[in-house]
Amino acid sequence: MVERSLYARAKAIFPPVANRATSLGIVKGEGVYLWDEEGNKYLDFASGVAVTNVGHNHPYVVQKVVEQCQTLIHGGHNVIYYPTYVELGEKLIEAVDPNYKVYFSNSGAEANEAAIKLAKQVTKRPGIISFKRSFHGRTLATTTLTASNSGYRQNYEGLLPSVYYADYPYATRSGLNEEEEVKRCIGALDEIFHCLIAPEQVSSIIVEPMQGEGGYVVAPKAFIQHLRKVCDEHGILLIFDEVQTGFGRTGKLFAYEHFDVKPDILTLAKGIANGFPLSAIVAKGELMDAWTQGTHGGTYGGNPVACASALAVLELLQDKYIDNAKKMGEYFVEELTLLKEKYDEILEIRGLGLMIGVEFVTKTGEPNATLVKKVIGKALEKGLILLNCGVDKNVIRFIPPLIVKEEEINKAITIFSECLEEIL
Ligand SMILES: Cc1ncc(COP(=O)(O)O)c(C=O)c1O
Repeated sequence: MVERSLYARAKAIFPPVANRATSLGIVKGEGVYLWDEEGNKYLDFASGVAVTNVGHNHPYVVQKVVEQCQTLIHGGHNVIYYPTYVELGEKLIEAVDPNYKVYFSNSGAEANEAAIKLAKQVTKRPGIISFKRSFHGRTLATTTLTASNSGYRQNYEGLLPSVYYADYPYATRSGLNEEEEVKRCIGALDEIFHCLIAPEQVSSIIVEPMQGEGGYVVAPKAFIQHLRKVCDEHGILLIFDEVQTGFGRTGKLFAYEHFDVKPDILTLAKGIANGFPLSAIVAKGELMDAWTQGTHGGTYGGNPVACASALAVLELLQDKYIDNAKKMGEYFVEELTLLKEKYDEILEIRGLGLMIGVEFVTKTGEPNATLVKKVIGKALEKGLILLNCGVDKNVIRFIPPLIVKEEEINKAITIFSECLEEIL
């Protein structure tokens, strides 16, 4: 036993404000594994919340980062230009569209802030439409956009004005079939335009193509395509928040590729640099060119080391790990589906690539947060790190690094099924 755990020391000095999924004190990471201060090894199927997409301390990322540290650690993009910054920008545009441009910041929230600022600046319209059950960050503006938990907004009300919340399709719980649910949500959006804010007053619609915090709910293609159509009709800018879905997580470099819809503005963070603080917005060139000089900025955005890491990540993903995410995601869902057949408490297994959610209900069909909490707790005792999500906290998310192998998925499935067996 360590004399005083990192957890005990942390509790004494940090406020309780941030939710903490575990009390683990971790001293080392490698691939899909983490080691705690007692020497215990954990299979990490949380990836620091969908961040370490190429695994902990990937040797190629480490090599590129070390090389960059020996060359230049900070310059400030408001002051100078440097190779990793420009190269990463070029590579991202190449991956999205040569007619787009890119701007770097540090976090997902910051990228979303930049996106809505850009949309307001360019359209000169005040309104923003976000979605119920969405999560876009913790700054005051992104807290406003977020609508997945009233707790996130508690005592912060009096937020950004002119933000309206549309319904996001979730047929599993609405009891409608997918087509009817899409129709219902289109109707709810029309009602916002009819009763609350005219579309000509709306600068942007911000949406996660697959909701993360909100419960790993994949939007139907028809709905995302409808949003594109509405935006085109009314000159509204479509923002895809791909902070969690981006960088190979869904088995494609960007989740929008699943929907055959390109956003006007794409926001990226989390997996982009495998743990180094970096985010980006990638937006149509004509929008970026109209973003008035001096109206946005920041000290650390596009840090040389973070960009070096992102360049290595992108190379690895495009080389093999996006394909692996698709393949392993399919395998994982097949294995989980076998368990669904065994337990009535599993309502649905859903997701894209290696962004998989398992939704739990009680025998009477109510959201089952108690069971989720127990399963996650027991899994941790057995050496598997899992997280929950969903408005009702009744979804377990499986987000291993995209380098994960079949044998590691098998190990996770064994632990997960043991937990269900012991609890149910
Ligand atoms: C979809 C989405 N957007 C934005 C954010 C906020 O990102 P960050 O915590 O880096 O500010 C998150 C984080 O969980 C997210 O999942």
